[in-house]
Amino acid sequence: MPSPLASPATTEDPSFAELLAQRPQLTAHAQDGLCLEDVPLARIAAEVGTPTWVYSAGTLRRRFRALRDALAAAGLNSTIHYAMKANDNLAVAGLLAKEGAGADVVSEGELRAALAAGIPGNRIVFSGVGKTAAEIRLALEHDIFQLNAESAEEVETIAALAEGMGRRAPVAIRVNPDVDARTHAKITTGKAENKFGVAIADAAALYARMAALPGIRPIGIAVHIGSQITEGLSAYRVAYTKVADLVRELRARGLPVERVDGGGGLGIPYRDEIAPLPEALAGALAAGLGPLGLPVMIEPGRWIAGPAGVLLSRVVLHKRGATRRFAVLDAGMNDLMRPALYDAWHGLVPVAPHQFHAPLSPAEVVGPVCETGDTFARGRHLPELAPGDVMAFLDAGAYGAAMSSTYNARPLAAEVLVDGHRWAVVRSRQPVEDLLARQSVPDWLLG
Ligand code: LLP
Repeated sequence: MPSPLASPATTEDPSFAELLAQRPQLTAHAQDGLCLEDVPLARIAAEVGTPTWVYSAGTLRRRFRALRDALAAAGLNSTIHYAMKANDNLAVAGLLAKEGAGADVVSEGELRAALAAGIPGNRIVFSGVGKTAAEIRLALEHDIFQLNAESAEEVETIAALAEGMGRRAPVAIRVNPDVDARTHAKITTGKAENKFGVAIADAAALYARMAALPGIRPIGIAVHIGSQITEGLSAYRVAYTKVADLVRELRARGLPVERVDGGGGLGIPYRDEIAPLPEALAGALAAGLGPLGLPVMIEPGRWIAGPAGVLLSRVVLHKRGATRRFAVLDAGMNDLMRPALYDAWHGLVPVAPHQFHAPLSPAEVVGPVCETGDTFARGRHLPELAPGDVMAFLDAGAYGAAMSSTYNARPLAAEVLVDGHRWAVVRSRQPVEDLLARQSVPDWLLG
């Protein structure tokens, strides 16, 4: 089966107009060119340089509220714990904190970022298969809302650490429900062969064990079946039904269950996928978990942040190869890794107004990194391009900047937040000196 993240080679890509029509935060102005909210992206490229990530505050707010309202309309008593891994910029997380979001974190860095963004420990859930003792201690010091334990071994570690600190750690067991979310193999997490969670058949016994440990307050059950789920809504329903059955079993054994965590994973349309609306996720949650009458948590990342961001990049040169033309950009796979890693398709739209209606022809869009995998798009219909032309990759707000690296000694790009007509740099471009700053050569090699 072809990967749902890859572009089907047989059908035509959506036009620029079709891409913009689906994304109300982006508009094409006759004079200003492509604008995000009320800010011309050409202005940001000119003042901040490229490559630069640009996020729309209005889109973040609108999407957070849509999710919150869908959950409420489904009759759920719920909390939203934004998955910091999607985009851990402090302005993004801070904006969501103001909206009432909690956070889902998976490392000390993300925990510290969430706290710095104004999300208190009692709204943070700590997930992840390999939390270190230092991370668990830090989470407990900050009165973490919930630790999602992913193994019996981890439960024992948490119990011992918490007891040593004279605390009871609030722990949920993340179960692996063995369902297929029908997403890319690299981001499916709820199949038995995946490294994540405790086999659902073993969860009740482990939960009983937790109840017997003085260092642990058993909180509930968590599940996360994968990411970029578009076709797999039925997998959500199966997973939530399995979790509800487990909770009933725990209750029958007299074990306390305070809440359930439905994870993240709701997909977005990158190309022309039919992605489910938040109402559909809320419906699956309500159908499966609603009857338990417990508070429900979710951990969305991509659905909130993905469509809110673009990556601006300039054409470095336009090159005619033997059989095709190449647009070589100043952004590379080190910036936006998703195409190289998952064959992901991202919309790519020129920023200059005259290019919206120019004749199109297929181009290979590549970055400057010395790997063939540093290819953003093949046979993409684009206008003639010249050095300096600015292009915008769409839907780059999630797993874009967060997954960047400095490969090829390329510094991390700048990040900008747009809010109506206002905009600000929210992470300055990394200076090249930074790449060398913490390195040293041992004495014996010198001289
Ligand atoms: N909760 C847990 C436990 C997770 O592992 C994840 C994502 C989320 C929540 C948030 O999932 P979301 O709502 O964003 O789908 N780098 C990949 C995505 C990896 C997702 C990993 N886990 C990509 O660029 O598509």
